[in-house]
Amino acid sequence: MLKIKEIISEKIAEQILAINSAAEITASEISAMLEYPPDANMGDLALPCFKFSKMLRRAPVQIAQALADSVSDECIEKIENVNGYLNFRISDKYLGDKVVKNVLEAGERYGSHTFGEGKTVVLDYSSPNVAKPFHIGHLGTTVIGHSLKLLHEFVGYKCVGINYLGDWGTQFGKLIVAYKLWGDKQQIEEGGIDKLVELYVRINNAITAEENENPPKHDLANQAREEFHKMEIGDEENIALWKWFVEISLIEYQKTYKQLGIEFDSYKGESFYTDKMPAQVEKLRQSGLMKIDDGASIVDLEEYGMPPCLILKRDGSTLYPTRDIAAAVYRKETYKFDKAIYVTAAAQCLHFQQWFKVVDLMGYDWADELVHVPYGIVSLNGEKLATRTGNVILLKDLFAKAIEKVGSIIEEKSPNLENKQAVAESVGVGAIVFYYLYNNRMKDINFMLEDALSFDGNTGPYAQYTYARACSVLEKAGKYDDGKSAVITCEEESSLVKVLAKFPEKVLDAIKDYEPSVITRYIIDVATAFNRFYHNCKIMNAETEEIKNTRLMLTSAAKTVLGNAFGLICLKKEEKI
Ligand code: ARG
Repeated sequence: MLKIKEIISEKIAEQILAINSAAEITASEISAMLEYPPDANMGDLALPCFKFSKMLRRAPVQIAQALADSVSDECIEKIENVNGYLNFRISDKYLGDKVVKNVLEAGERYGSHTFGEGKTVVLDYSSPNVAKPFHIGHLGTTVIGHSLKLLHEFVGYKCVGINYLGDWGTQFGKLIVAYKLWGDKQQIEEGGIDKLVELYVRINNAITAEENENPPKHDLANQAREEFHKMEIGDEENIALWKWFVEISLIEYQKTYKQLGIEFDSYKGESFYTDKMPAQVEKLRQSGLMKIDDGASIVDLEEYGMPPCLILKRDGSTLYPTRDIAAAVYRKETYKFDKAIYVTAAAQCLHFQQWFKVVDLMGYDWADELVHVPYGIVSLNGEKLATRTGNVILLKDLFAKAIEKVGSIIEEKSPNLENKQAVAESVGVGAIVFYYLYNNRMKDINFMLEDALSFDGNTGPYAQYTYARACSVLEKAGKYDDGKSAVITCEEESSLVKVLAKFPEKVLDAIKDYEPSVITRYIIDVATAFNRFYHNCKIMNAETEEIKNTRLMLTSAAKTVLGNAFGLICLKKEEKI
């Protein structure tokens, strides 16, 4: 309703100036004041007039009445003054003539904007730690991150998706020890990442067990540190093992990304920044920001209400923040970004606040272009996850389960469907993505698989099914004329178009708050309005040809909006389910 809001607020601004030519208010300020009334019976838009009271030296009720009497436009059916609120009803004629046409003409671009053109956004997301399991805790960063990328692309930004793999660190020391003790090359080649994770879990358990031995029999923890140290100084055998572990892990991740329709523009992981850190450490040292504290090098952030940011350990080795600083500098130089977005679990909030501040103190004037987007904790059927002990649900297993269950539902519902397997994959994976992205990202989520997979309720399968329903109506109808005006004759049609009119605004809201759930929830609004229309209005047997044509145009418009919105949250479009 952006366009409608714009028209209405311009008219209101004109009339306010007519009442008092010295009034200082712009149409865009008025537009921002327009609200959607909680109950559609009150109107489609409402303007509280209390703010104008001082400016116009009149009571809000009087102002609302004066505006109700003087404002008119083809898009307004009715204006009412209710206790200082102006309630607007949008005209069906306008909805049919302008809004539906606009959706159909814009097609795949409907809902998009162009304000990002010429600007670049770098998005750091998914970024699993190699050799550790890729579990449902990573679902958030992966699908929120990718949706934010799709959203930014939709408004014109050039986007660079970066998978900042956790491909360096002491976990590799552990894995090398485990591999040397218990590993089997062939088994790993055949079993892939699962075998690596088994080794990782086994070595962690062994290290934990040793913590209670005095003295520890094998001192595995120490051995792991040594193996990692060998990696750091370029030991050939260890480097070769490390490369192999990373390769095996990537093959596996890419299967999952493919199921989600995700591709990254860069896989430069933590290891890539090893030789880029010293320059930043040196800059920190020279600027006098870095202090020695108990042997370690830190940047004191007390003044900003935060604990110190650790730059170097006592033994001189670098840390997670050190690498992030070096990576940010490299990305700024390489991509000249206007914004860099990092999507991680909320547990990392402090880490990001700290090193963002350090970048700022270092004098990099782009520090305020760094954005951290956190999200809440995921549990599955009430159980929390722990990587080190192996008590995890792998993302690929969750997907496989969902695909299998959807597969059997499809077998029952539509046994003759072509590509049953591909559809089951799209709907199964889509169900998980949708369920996850339905909630406000900061909310902790308890994943209930049964709920996610249900075909009714606010789910992915329901949304995808609705899309397929619209496709099937259009397919059966064959030809119709979408160049004609849509002539709205009933409330269901009118409500549907009003929902469709909100899409461009929803895209803005989702980007402003880094919140894909705005789109996910909106999809349910569209699906609900469309299904209500579909059940209550005859399409093929409509009363007149004109009504039939209108209804087919509405079906096509709903399909367009659903499809465009799916494209923003990694949900695939299936024409038949
Ligand atoms: N690999 C890290 C983890 O799994 C996430 C990396 C996030 N990105 C970053 N630039 N720190 O916890």
